[in-house]
Amino acid sequence: MFGASGDLTRRLLMPALYNLACDGLLPKRFAIVGVAMDELTTEQFREKMSTDIRQFSTRKQFDDEVWGDFVRHLSYSPGTFEDAKTYERIAALVTQLDGEWHTEGNVLYYLAVPPPLFGLISAQLARAGGTAAKRGWRRVIVEKPFGHDLASAIELSRELLEHWREDQIYRIDHYLGKETVQNLLAFRFSNGMFEPLWNRNHIDHIQLAVAETVGVEGRGRYYERAGVVRDMIQNHMFQMLAYLCMEPPISFKPEAIRNEKAKVLDAVRIMRPEDVLANTVRGQYGRGRRADGQDAVGYRQEPHVDPQSGTETFAAIKVFIDNWRWEGVPIYLRSGKALWRRGTEILVQLKKAPEVIFRETPAMERLESNQLIFHIQPDQEIEVRFQAKHPGPSMNLQKVNMRFDYREAFQAARATGYEVLLYHCMLGDAMLFSRTDLVESAWKIAQPILDVWATSPAEDFPNYPAGSWGPKAAFDLIERDGRKWLEVVNRSVIAQVPLFSACDAIFQHNIAMALKPEVYAPGDLIVRKGDIGREMYFLVNGEVDVLDRDGTAIATLGPGSFFGEISLLLSEPRTASVRAREYCDLFVLDKRDFNRVLRDHPEFARSILEASQARYKVSVAAEQAFDRQVRLLMGG
Ligand code: BG6
Repeated sequence: MFGASGDLTRRLLMPALYNLACDGLLPKRFAIVGVAMDELTTEQFREKMSTDIRQFSTRKQFDDEVWGDFVRHLSYSPGTFEDAKTYERIAALVTQLDGEWHTEGNVLYYLAVPPPLFGLISAQLARAGGTAAKRGWRRVIVEKPFGHDLASAIELSRELLEHWREDQIYRIDHYLGKETVQNLLAFRFSNGMFEPLWNRNHIDHIQLAVAETVGVEGRGRYYERAGVVRDMIQNHMFQMLAYLCMEPPISFKPEAIRNEKAKVLDAVRIMRPEDVLANTVRGQYGRGRRADGQDAVGYRQEPHVDPQSGTETFAAIKVFIDNWRWEGVPIYLRSGKALWRRGTEILVQLKKAPEVIFRETPAMERLESNQLIFHIQPDQEIEVRFQAKHPGPSMNLQKVNMRFDYREAFQAARATGYEVLLYHCMLGDAMLFSRTDLVESAWKIAQPILDVWATSPAEDFPNYPAGSWGPKAAFDLIERDGRKWLEVVNRSVIAQVPLFSACDAIFQHNIAMALKPEVYAPGDLIVRKGDIGREMYFLVNGEVDVLDRDGTAIATLGPGSFFGEISLLLSEPRTASVRAREYCDLFVLDKRDFNRVLRDHPEFARSILEASQARYKVSVAAEQAFDRQVRLLMGG
């Protein structure tokens, strides 16, 4: 393990190896050699790892016996990576340990070091005879980022391939270690139900989203040169995209799968500069407030970040796969740091069913597309959303869902994600690792975006506050196509809206599926006086002004408040305009869902009325009209 004193080793690699030991998935005969610059003895290294593991172990209960046995297999060899003697010492130690532990000459090198060192370490290992085995096998694992752009990735591969054969190189992408990502393949190819629908004839569009609440967390120096396209999209997200969209492989053999992944990435349309302008949006977070209520600094105020930085911390892009299966199906990818919630989700939205038979029923215009949602993390679920008849005398429809939750189906200990990768590598199974051509195909897709962005710096940075839903332009990108981002609104989010917090679980569940996210920029008019109201709004982030006839602000509303309900309730034109004072995130409930909610939950109508009365001093006449309307909706 090169880089054995680093963060990766203590936070992820050791806990992963320890988990493998606990699960009986490590061989009895093995040894681990830590290599780094720190002057430590083997004894000190063992002590340090023994302390760290207690902090970073993912197991519920720490097993002293397993660790006690595991730690005997650890050794340490200090040295700088430039010094040839370091490698001579490693070679001697490996030979000695091979004799002691009978490891049959098999050696796996883990380069937990920055990519510029891959070439140097490989060359030195080759010189010391470490890359070619007389007995057993030699393999190397390299960490990301694999290159900074297409040219540097090609160069990095060239450097590695000077010293290793392709089948010896294992490029880590920790997303492929996630159970829910691996399950994409199992789900698609072991179930007869969905695969026949998996094409342009049935699928309207696909969304992949990786939202993070964290900012750059002290990694400013690295992130300044990376940005979200390099850090998340070019690697992790394109890997998920490949699993989701590739053709069925002829087997689960690594090369069969990697060939299909390469083919689908090769089919992604490479953007021309004008496509980049039309199909991408970038963002950078400014000061804001985190989900836990703490004030958060903007990206430009983070340590080691240029106060004028043009690095993007958010991106949304639309791509197309130009092959038979996917022609014309847009695929939207979105990822960002310092967002309002953490979640990785994939949405596969099917085409709508024909509406014609619902003509003249209350369900007309209520048909919504079926949605299949893969909740990758932190929720680990697969969800199908579809329509059901709403109980009652007429043919009315409501969106409902079915969910498969990993926690209910399986008993598995929490893991780091590296277990399965290390395990596969030890077995020589490269299925979960990226191949040279795959990495290059992924860079080819990202490169035009990076090029256009580099030559035309963003002028509106920062364009979303920390803790918000991301830049408004990202919402415009998908809404221009008549679609909406899926924002997963779970019950804990609903509970934060005061109006919903006291409502029962069924109500909260239904409302969570009915709310749609919208973002407004400062100065945008959200509601215009005199318009016929078609929706009501719940303010999640930001402030809005309620304006009187001549545009003077008569009230300011903040997070947790709502507006737009009176026009819906009284079926009268809007009585006031509402304008965003600053960047605002809102949930929108449309009139049909609003009516349904009122009908099913009269207590909700009551609380809305009370709140409106308090705020607008709704007149007695209006109150009577309001009551009449509620009774009508409730069939009373
Ligand atoms: C890493 C990126 O590869 O993935 C980080 O460098 C990012 O910036 C992380 O936070 C996300 O991984 P996960 O497993 O938390 O989704």
